[in-house]
Amino acid sequence: MSSPIKRIGLLTGGGDCPGLNAVIRAVTKSAIHRYKLEVIGVEDGFLGLIQNRMHPLGWNDVSNILTLGGTILGTSNRANPQRYPVKVNGQDEFADVTDRVIEHVAANRLDALVCIGGDGTMSGAANLIEHGINCIGVPKTIDNDLVGCEQTFGFDTAVTTAAECLDKIHSTAKSHHRVMVVEVMGRNAGWVALHAGMATGCDIILLPEIDYDLNKICELLTYRSRTGKRFSIVCISEGAKPAGGELSVCRRDEVSPDPIRLGGIANKLAADIETRTGLETRATILGHIQRGGTPTPFDRVLATRFGFHALELLLDGAFGKLVVWNKGGIDHVDIQQVAGKQRKVPVDDPLISAARAVGTGFGDIAA
Ligand code: F6P
Repeated sequence: MSSPIKRIGLLTGGGDCPGLNAVIRAVTKSAIHRYKLEVIGVEDGFLGLIQNRMHPLGWNDVSNILTLGGTILGTSNRANPQRYPVKVNGQDEFADVTDRVIEHVAANRLDALVCIGGDGTMSGAANLIEHGINCIGVPKTIDNDLVGCEQTFGFDTAVTTAAECLDKIHSTAKSHHRVMVVEVMGRNAGWVALHAGMATGCDIILLPEIDYDLNKICELLTYRSRTGKRFSIVCISEGAKPAGGELSVCRRDEVSPDPIRLGGIANKLAADIETRTGLETRATILGHIQRGGTPTPFDRVLATRFGFHALELLLDGAFGKLVVWNKGGIDHVDIQQVAGKQRKVPVDDPLISAARAVGTGFGDIAA
């Protein structure tokens, strides 16, 4: 294959996710082994492009990282070249520093960039594409909410971790005859809650896509208790909220492209359930544990296939594409078509129908 691409940059942006290193390894090894390209690792996502921090990646740098969580390149979910914090006359302001990024790409002789990230990173890549930089995207997020991609790597690992934790929560729920409310990640989309909740037989699953009614939740929990079920488990997505209520925001990070950080809805719900039903209730927030650890074999394979396909697209000159998993195979879509959009759980998703059929509540219809 003859291509003008000789030297590529590789970055990981946004929140970390199991399988990032597997993609870094796949891109780098196939670039070196099959296509004799040079690979430059950009440090800390777009921050490294803004600050000109990057280094060559060789075969040994990416050996033994397939099973490693996190990213050897580092990442940042705060660096957006179009809205970068700068000091102007001693005042904090935001500026568009895309020109600086373009200078650094040229100075490092990068013919193309592989951007591994979620919707924020893809929006950043879409901006660079508009400025003439050759980019290929690889989708990453444990939330599994990228439009055009049925499964991102990292999701299977996050669900596995959440399911293991939910299985463990069963012991205490059962021994102490309690209601246990377990909060999982999923800012805008409830895929982690839906899969982990179904996999562990949770009695109620609460998603950002279906506002909940506390009365309905309490009716179901009370009914279970009255009919001899001495414990119940509720799996709630961090982005779930009561109908007419607010999201549970635990902090704001104004520098970040998406400043809101969610967390704590489980505490509120647990207190509300206990007050309303008299059933002893506890809350557990799984948090970043879901983003850590070694990727599952499924994610390792998916990440390796994504990395290799990204490289093939680059060498074919198919710039501006995002590698995706669709209908059981690897494919690609235009980054610009999907950047900044979210793939939510449809309220009529077949998984929801199946869960309802076995008696799982979603906090929206009567027990
Ligand atoms: O988008 C991935 C995600 O893990 C969300 O599920 C969560 O809301 C957010 O990132 C947390 O971000 P941070 O690492 O900045 O707290």
